[in-house]
Amino acid sequence: MIPQEFSHIACRQVDLDALAAIGDDQIAGLVTELSTPGTDRVVAYRQGRRWSACSSRRQWSPLARPAVAGAPEGVYLITGGLGGIGLVLADHLARTAKAKLVLTSRRGLPPRDTWQDYLASHGAQDAASRKIRSVIALEDLGAEVSIGSADVVDEAGMKAVVDEACARFGRIHGVIHAAGIAGGGMIQLKKPEVAAAVLAPKVLGTQVLERALAGSSSTSSCCARR
Ligand SMILES: NC(=O)c1ccc[n+]([C@@H]2O[C@H](COP(=O)([O-])OP(=O)(O)OC[C@H]3O[C@@H](n4cnc5c(N)ncnc54)[C@H](OP(=O)(O)O)[C@@H]3O)[C@@H](O)[C@H]2O)c1
Repeated sequence: MIPQEFSHIACRQVDLDALAAIGDDQIAGLVTELSTPGTDRVVAYRQGRRWSACSSRRQWSPLARPAVAGAPEGVYLITGGLGGIGLVLADHLARTAKAKLVLTSRRGLPPRDTWQDYLASHGAQDAASRKIRSVIALEDLGAEVSIGSADVVDEAGMKAVVDEACARFGRIHGVIHAAGIAGGGMIQLKKPEVAAAVLAPKVLGTQVLERALAGSSSTSSCCARR
């Protein structure tokens, strides 16, 4: 997006061969790329050769999709589990993996024993009503669903969610990190704090999750990652 918004900035992609040891050739190539005002936007170094992609001749062809084994039956923690992507993946796991699901978000849901009253007193378009209906639909598919409420950058909060999941389900077999805000808008109008708010759940959230899960396996004998 950057060159589309800023005509004076050029972005280039320099692709080094990940399978080859990075040697003097590749480093020299990279230095040349960085110090030359080239016009090639996509460049690749392979076996001592420099390849450039001419965008007008670039073509796309479909890859055969290899058969992928489905997710194994088990307990899945989905951060952002009440959001758009989280609920789609929860639905998939409920249908294909007889999943026990721990769905987390900052706001969570009203207490379960108030759901019927909540649905009766709020319109169908109410955000929490839609999420409650989605959870009920997951349970109708046979999933056991636990709702957790924590900011994914809050380590103590996430640790509590993990501990609660372990206490209820025994162990967590898989984690899907789908908590976040998309943060659209033009780069020119972004302020550092806006970018930080978008990056926090994605980057810090991933680090917090790793620590919360690692801690749980060492402090609780019942809880471990597969
Ligand atoms: N939709 C797409 O096409 C797409 C494509 C590529 C990447 N993504 C990324 O995928 C992630 C989810 O997208 P989505 O479309 O599912 O968004 P969404 O419908 O807005 O759902 C986001 C979910 O994350 C929760 N959440 C947000 N910030 C959180 C935080 N700090 N801690 C805990 N939970 C948090 C939200 O609930 P609360 O507000 O209650 O916390 C909500 O449940 C985002 O990071 C997005 O950038 C989306």
